[in-house]
Amino acid sequence: MNFEAILDRDQALIEDFLRKYMENSPQYARLQEAMGYSLLAGGKRIRPVLTLEACRMCGGAVELVLPFACAVEMIHTYSLIHDDLPAMDDDDLRRGRPTSHKVFGEAAAILAGDALLTEAFFAMSQAELSPERIAQGTACLALRAGHLGMVGGQALDLAGRASTLPELETLQSLKTGALLQAAAELGCIAAGGTLEQRQALSGYAEKLGQAFQIRDDMLDVMGEQAQLGKPVGSDAEQGKQTFASLLGLDACAKQVEALTTQAVEALASFERREFLVWLAQRLAQRSF
Ligand code: IPE
Ligand code: IPE
Ligand code: MG
Ligand code: MG
Ligand code: MG
Repeated sequence: MNFEAILDRDQALIEDFLRKYMENSPQYARLQEAMGYSLLAGGKRIRPVLTLEACRMCGGAVELVLPFACAVEMIHTYSLIHDDLPAMDDDDLRRGRPTSHKVFGEAAAILAGDALLTEAFFAMSQAELSPERIAQGTACLALRAGHLGMVGGQALDLAGRASTLPELETLQSLKTGALLQAAAELGCIAAGGTLEQRQALSGYAEKLGQAFQIRDDMLDVMGEQAQLGKPVGSDAEQGKQTFASLLGLDACAKQVEALTTQAVEALASFERREFLVWLAQRLAQRSF
């Protein structure tokens, strides 16, 4: 099977799980409609794909890790809904659709994000895994998604004080790297992998996340709205300092390449690593 086919198959597994999950939850209010509107709007599903592959690499069964994988995607989707709010990046388009607050109003968008965040942990609690693995996974995701991880990074981003490269690196590692790390680690935890495997996968995801966010900043300057499904020029409009504004696009491209090499190197101890190597290289070149 070629790598593109593996990606397609894993994305389909994730779409299917998320769709069924939402269909099985009660639809008594516009709240569930707003949750599904953002969660089922496509998206690259990179984080849950990473969870599935990390699980395979550590010898686990993919069906059992799906609730973990989809929990990460729920948290990611909530972070996007809140990231787009007028109080944050104030964006009108996401995943090719008008943003949640444009369709449902600001209060409903805040609640849809809150509900997806909470639902993520409920979904994890329902996984058919040992209580130890569920507890470990929950701790990992809570830590990486919270104030010491993604939310902490968003706070630094909004504070707007990051003006040097090291400051920006810290910010991006938190706001983007941390959730990718959680995604990879959850696959390992669900499979009962070793601490060494978890550290290697986390190292890969950290570098992948830094490269991913620099590429995101580049695409905010040079991308196409139709391909990205979100506006371009949003960072400049918000007066955001990014890698692109600080370094320029050529230096960004070199940095993405270097980080991708480091990501790949972190996987050296795994025999089965070709798909994640390919994924890192593909994301480094992405225009979507
Ligand atoms: C967007 O993430 C936010 C960043 C961390 C750069 P993605 O580019 O993974 O967005 P979707 O999930 O594909 O919509
Ligand atoms: C957001 O970074 C990262 C999150 C934690 C949501 P951006 O603000 O650059 O993401 P986009 O460009 O809106 O997707
Ligand atoms: Mg933002
Ligand atoms: Mg944004
Ligand atoms: Mg961006």
